[in-house]
Amino acid sequence: MSNYLQSHGHIMFDTIKFNLPDEKSPSVLDVFAGAGGISMGFIGAGYRIAGAVEKDKWAAKTFKTNIEYFQGMPCSVHGGAEKGDMTRVSPEEIYEETGDINVLVGGPPCKAFSQIGRGKLNSLSEKGYKADPRNKLYHNFVHFLEVFKPDAFVMENVPGMLSIDGRNLADVAARHLGDPTDEGKPGYVVRYAMLDSSWYGVPQYRQRIIFIGIREDLGITPSMPPRLTPGPPASSGYMKWPEHHGQQEMFRGKMRKHYTLPVPAVDQLASVTTVRHALGDLPEITDHIGVDKNPWPRRKWNTFADYPEDVQVSEFARVMREWDGPVSAREGVQGHHIRWTRRDFETFRRMAHGETYPAALKHARQRLEDHLKSLVKKGELKTITESAREHYRPLFVPPYDETRGFSDSWQKLYPERPSWTVTAHLSKDTYSHIHFDDDQARAISVREAARLQSFPDRFILGPDGGLAGAYGQIGNAVPPLMAHAIAKHLKTLIFS
Ligand SMILES: C[S@@+](CC[C@H](N)C(=O)[O-])C[C@H]1O[C@@H](n2cnc3c(N)ncnc32)[C@H](O)[C@@H]1O
Repeated sequence: MSNYLQSHGHIMFDTIKFNLPDEKSPSVLDVFAGAGGISMGFIGAGYRIAGAVEKDKWAAKTFKTNIEYFQGMPCSVHGGAEKGDMTRVSPEEIYEETGDINVLVGGPPCKAFSQIGRGKLNSLSEKGYKADPRNKLYHNFVHFLEVFKPDAFVMENVPGMLSIDGRNLADVAARHLGDPTDEGKPGYVVRYAMLDSSWYGVPQYRQRIIFIGIREDLGITPSMPPRLTPGPPASSGYMKWPEHHGQQEMFRGKMRKHYTLPVPAVDQLASVTTVRHALGDLPEITDHIGVDKNPWPRRKWNTFADYPEDVQVSEFARVMREWDGPVSAREGVQGHHIRWTRRDFETFRRMAHGETYPAALKHARQRLEDHLKSLVKKGELKTITESAREHYRPLFVPPYDETRGFSDSWQKLYPERPSWTVTAHLSKDTYSHIHFDDDQARAISVREAARLQSFPDRFILGPDGGLAGAYGQIGNAVPPLMAHAIAKHLKTLIFS
């Protein structure tokens, strides 16, 4: 085994045990369910997913296909613009299908919180508040809580909610969620913390606010899953390690509120999972190299590329390969498709790890000059003129001005570090995550995005939402291994 695999602690992955649920397992309702990142983590910790609500019909389909496969049991999924819209579905109707559930999980899109800091949290019945569509999604989550009265809930959101209009809305929401109900009904003891997915074996820095609420009558105060790795070294959100641009600074003081929890650590911390641990064992993609046309290859979502034989498999990759449901494992790698960005493949190859758009632009301009010189050498061009340069420029040089905020949207991954945050922006382009391997000269595939998010290889990607849909669903998700840590911890708090 090479050093990089040895340094990648067994401790962490030894603690990850996947238990299949059965009829007696604690049940979960997942709202704003996406492709099912949270649910995957809960299944792995031995919960049963009883139902889900998701507005995007393709995400709902991905959810149903995979969740039923992984848990080996049916799940009632309300999906699509009508049936799956949280502002339209009736929790009472869903209750009739699922019956009591133990845990409500979900991440209302963050715009749902944009207004809750206006001193109206305790007046949800107020007409004006209810009428504001931006409040609706958050209100719907609360309404589900009122109807289902689960033992616990887990709510996820982005760190941005720690500071909206200068207010810590996480604290405001925690206070409100602690008492969402009418008089006489139980409220919830709610706490939150900012967790980083790299603490739980995920090869990615991704910070999220996690709220845990436990019904008051159970008499248990929430705590947070202990982290398993050190750090992160001041990484945050989409920002790049180690250049964190002072985001911690922005939050200083605002986290120290009544409802925030410290995150304990286990005694012996394992090292973080890196991009190489995550992607190093996947088949190489090189069929785009040297292709002169833009053939837009037809993507066959139902094919499985073979795992290469002569590669080392990290502990993380082993977990991704072996995490399976009750159906016998399908062999190979599915959804290993990339975007065809012919103009830029060679620029990707020339970029050094960590380089961003301004550097990419320099490489691209150099490629243009190299090309013009080669034309002169071959006698196809007499001299290099400005008009020749203009003529060939679009073949090599991207049209975006380097000052236009593009520096963050192109970046080549460092193999020996966790990735920066994988986002739903991948549905538009994948330049934010260029593969570290110069020889492959491309951005990450959908399967690689899934690996960086810790979705197991048996999790079927696409096909119905197409390439953009698949990237978007993966980028939106809570990493399953992070959800697994939360689910497992919650089990020790209330279900053991
Ligand atoms: C951050 S993603 C959720 C990710 C998911 N928890 C996971 O781990 O995979 C938010 C999801 O909310 C869905 N959504 C947005 N508005 C909705 C609505 N009104 N009703 C239901 N789902 C909605 C989006 O389609 C998106 O899939």
